[in-house]
Amino acid sequence: MKVSAEVCPLCDGTGWKSVSQNGDRRVTRCDCRLKARAQSLLEAARIPKRYEHCELSSFTTDFPGAHPSLAMAHIAVSRFAQEYDPGDGTGLLLIGKIGTGKTHLGVGILKELILTRGIGCLFYDYRELLKEIQNSYNASVQTTELDVLRPVFDAEVLFLDELGAVKPSEWVWDTVSLILNTRYNNNRTTIITTNFEDQPAGGVNNSMSAARSAVREETLGDRIGERMRSRLHEMCRIIKLDGLDFRQKFRSANFR
Ligand SMILES: Nc1ncnc2c1ncn2[C@@H]1O[C@H](COP(=O)(O)OP(=O)(O)O)[C@@H](O)[C@H]1O
Ligand SMILES: [Mg+2]
Ligand SMILES: [Zn+2]
Repeated sequence: MKVSAEVCPLCDGTGWKSVSQNGDRRVTRCDCRLKARAQSLLEAARIPKRYEHCELSSFTTDFPGAHPSLAMAHIAVSRFAQEYDPGDGTGLLLIGKIGTGKTHLGVGILKELILTRGIGCLFYDYRELLKEIQNSYNASVQTTELDVLRPVFDAEVLFLDELGAVKPSEWVWDTVSLILNTRYNNNRTTIITTNFEDQPAGGVNNSMSAARSAVREETLGDRIGERMRSRLHEMCRIIKLDGLDFRQKFRSANFR
């Protein structure tokens, strides 16, 4: 790369520029360094290509048939990004059916935090993360479990997309507990999406009739366990998104 060939005209490559404020001259970080930092934070966040277009400003809430919860979610999420306080640790849990815009909003928050606040963020798809951890047990692979988990534990803001999407097992539950508890104990902010309803696990001896429970949809409690579901309530504010799959909106609008 020949980056150094182009010397920044603002700072002559020093990274510092002088500005005048109320008649005083001070030295401040140059725009070229801020831009370079935002760029490297964006790369480190590992936002997948198919979500690169997602911004809070491009989330629309006034299309025909838009559910009112979308506008409310958009306001809440934008405020969260603006008022984000590194010491606070409270995250968000975005709940809704497929295509309601959960990942779009989550990625929008990450980009906002990176570009306007210079905050380190990390995107992880839940299935992808569990797969990477499992792969690390393979003797022919050089990475260890901790190599995979360290950045997940340490990221200032972690975005965990599609929580619960892996079929539950003892190992899955242990792994989710390890991740969520570690972040909780270190007071780190976690933003989470899930397609599963925020309802308790449906045990065999709950009050539902056999006929109903046979067709009943799985809940977040079923998928990550009750303990982790209640942990999430301590870690996150809950935001619900209702409505149809955004990608079907034109089709559904014609039926109105
Ligand atoms: N309200 C919206 N405004 C603009 N684009 C949207 C909106 N909702 C969803 N999309 C787009 O539709 C696609 C599916 O949304 P996504 O966020 O992946 O849904 P979910 O994560 O809830 O399944 C994405 O490309 C996203 O950018
Ligand atoms: Mg999604
Ligand atoms: Zn410069």
